Amino acid sequence: MPGSWAQATYLLAALLFVLSLAGLSKQETARRGNVAGMVGMVLALVATIGLALDHSERPVPVTGGLILLVLLIGGTIGTWRARRVEMTQMPELIAILHSFVGLAAVLVGYNSFLTEPADPAHLVEVFLGVLIGAVTFAGSIVAYLKLSTRIRSAPLTLPGRNVLNLAMLLASGGLLVWFLGSHSVVPLVLMTVVALALGWHLVASIGGGDMPVVVSMLNSYSGWAAAAAGFMLGNDLLIVTGALVGSSGAILSYLMCKAMNRSFVSVILGGFGAEGGTVVASDGEQGVHHEVSAADVAELLLEARSVVITPGYGMAVARAQYPVAELVEKLRARGIDVRFGVHPVAGRLPGHMNVLLAEARVPYDIVLEMDEINDDLGDVDVVLVIGANDTVNPAALDDPGSPIAGMPVLEVWKAARVVVFKRSMATGYAGVQNPLFFRDNTSMLFGDAKERVEQIMLAVGDAVSKAEGPYSAAAEAH
Ligand code: TAP
Repeated sequence: MPGSWAQATYLLAALLFVLSLAGLSKQETARRGNVAGMVGMVLALVATIGLALDHSERPVPVTGGLILLVLLIGGTIGTWRARRVEMTQMPELIAILHSFVGLAAVLVGYNSFLTEPADPAHLVEVFLGVLIGAVTFAGSIVAYLKLSTRIRSAPLTLPGRNVLNLAMLLASGGLLVWFLGSHSVVPLVLMTVVALALGWHLVASIGGGDMPVVVSMLNSYSGWAAAAAGFMLGNDLLIVTGALVGSSGAILSYLMCKAMNRSFVSVILGGFGAEGGTVVASDGEQGVHHEVSAADVAELLLEARSVVITPGYGMAVARAQYPVAELVEKLRARGIDVRFGVHPVAGRLPGHMNVLLAEARVPYDIVLEMDEINDDLGDVDVVLVIGANDTVNPAALDDPGSPIAGMPVLEVWKAARVVVFKRSMATGYAGVQNPLFFRDNTSMLFGDAKERVEQIMLAVGDAVSKAEGPYSAAAEAH
């Protein structure tokens, strides 16, 4: 393919990647965004292969055959993995994919050092590309191992760990000076070892619960590593794409930290939600709680005019989204206004709840963001808190001493009645007790969220049949 055609195709692909990101920012347009990204990637591949064949020193069929072979191997493994992955395993898949980008940047860096003339600007590109690539590679491998529970998720707390990180960065700076002065491969190899250790240590020091923020941070690093590879290869599309991934990953990490009211630095320094699991409250219970049964909740729902459901991590664990969607359909068929209120960091992934609800075919227009629903909650008859805890904790607003003080939350307690679905009085991710559970208008429905929602659905069916008499019960059965 002539160079000018390849550049024009690259420009079109870059445009499609920007449109893809814009589409992915909203649920309604996400599918379109994905398609734009896929078309952009196909164009990018076609142009890159065209250029490679054009510049090939070997006979074209040999180069073409080799490219086809790696495409087949990569495509087969990628398709096989992507088809098998569970929604809950998505972060670990993303982590391992980031490690490939890091490794690619390291390989491109070495290749470029060994084959290109050594002018200072090029040497800096090579050094930075390999540094970012090696940190991303090692960090992503640790994130993958932690997320897939192949290693313990607890943070590694070596004494003086921040000093250790700083020392490794300073050592890399020293090696850069040596590299620029000597043009030797030795400082490059030494820096690669230091960068691998730095990536490993940075992520090993962070608790499993903070991994989603770390994965999004590694996403950003992998973008910068790709951009660095783009500079080394003189490939404009790789620079643009790398910068898009690098900056969107950084923005996502920032938004996640903001929604959790945590500073990025405190996440990186680790220590919070250390085991990434549910911790039992250290500050004990704060009053008496009131329990209800599934049948009571069914009755409450049938008497309500408006219902809001706020899902959380527990709904994902219980895989309760399917019966929840069915229950919502039943209630809406009876003229009850049902909406969802989704907190930006509900669950453990950005957009976790939105994806689950979309999977269960809940209509998009009844799934609202926290900011869209908070002002309406005072007029709602019943709020069902399904497996959410920290994201509905009033202490975030009332208690300045709380670890989650200042975090914006769904103000569910303003509704006439609140029902909390969970298995026990254990705390959520942040490990803090939730005063919501002890409020007069709150009732607890203990048990697995999926089982309880299914029981409510049965009880709703029974209540409706009883109210409508034997004839309609028989009709409903048919
Ligand atoms: P959490 O505060 O994590 O609470 C989840 C609740 O679900 C727990 O209290 C647990 O109580 C309950 N649960 C677990 N399994 C259940 C089951 N099978 N059936 C019923 N209930 C079950 O949830 P949240 O409100 O979604 O908050 C998310 C937290 O994660 C926030 O603190 C957020 O900052 C943090 N976080 C989020 C992200 C992103 S990007 N979403 C990233 C990192 C951290 P029991 O054990 O008593 O059942």
